[in-house]
Amino acid sequence: NIEVVVVKDAQEGGKKAFEYVKQSLEEGMKVMGLATGSTPETLYTELRNSDLDFSNVTAINLDEYIGLPGDHDQSYSYFMNENLFKAKPFKETHIPNGLASEEEETARYNKVIEDHPIDLQILGIGTNAHVGFNEPGSSFDSLTRKVELTEETIEANKRFFESADDVPRYAYSMGLASIMSADKIMLLAYGENKAEAVANAVNGPVTEEVPASILQKHKDVVFIVDEAAASKL
Ligand code: F6R
Repeated sequence: NIEVVVVKDAQEGGKKAFEYVKQSLEEGMKVMGLATGSTPETLYTELRNSDLDFSNVTAINLDEYIGLPGDHDQSYSYFMNENLFKAKPFKETHIPNGLASEEEETARYNKVIEDHPIDLQILGIGTNAHVGFNEPGSSFDSLTRKVELTEETIEANKRFFESADDVPRYAYSMGLASIMSADKIMLLAYGENKAEAVANAVNGPVTEEVPASILQKHKDVVFIVDEAAASKL
């Protein structure tokens, strides 16, 4: 069963999520799995403004667009540097290299995860219930691999680019099995457009058509959702 914590809005969600991260640190967290996108921004603001020390923590990010260099302002590497790493140095940071070849990069990244078991994984959720870039139909057994983004995801993410045509079509993403290997998982979701995905993930059947539904099988998962995202629960 998925524990759901309902908060008023994204600001409050950031504060609540911060408390979980702080507690994990106090419990000796060594590896933290991180997400990008709009959702974790309030959490990252709380972390930046805190006195928490991540210098003994390894960061592992979920995904990266294929074709964007790490210094491109829409790359997830750039996002992480700006939103967290510049202000909070980590022991090591890992993110897929969007310019590396598929075979080498997926093998390399799977080894990174194998060598650094994730204590706490932060997730957002897509309107189609994707986690990472594991779109509907992704295998529950999947590890890091090259994935093709759905039209829905490209539409959702075009707000960051000049046009939908500029959104990369492919990404490297940790798989659903990679995510499920984390000791603890914290998924964040804000806004009415996430309500259906949240409801399907929490209460719907566990099916590869709803990637986040696999989280029902995890032993320690919490969803922090605002009232709008909780509205269909
Ligand atoms: C980002 C990621 C994605 C996003 C999801 C929601 O690293 O893996 O699954 O979490 O697309 O994006 P936002 O938060 O922008 O609504």
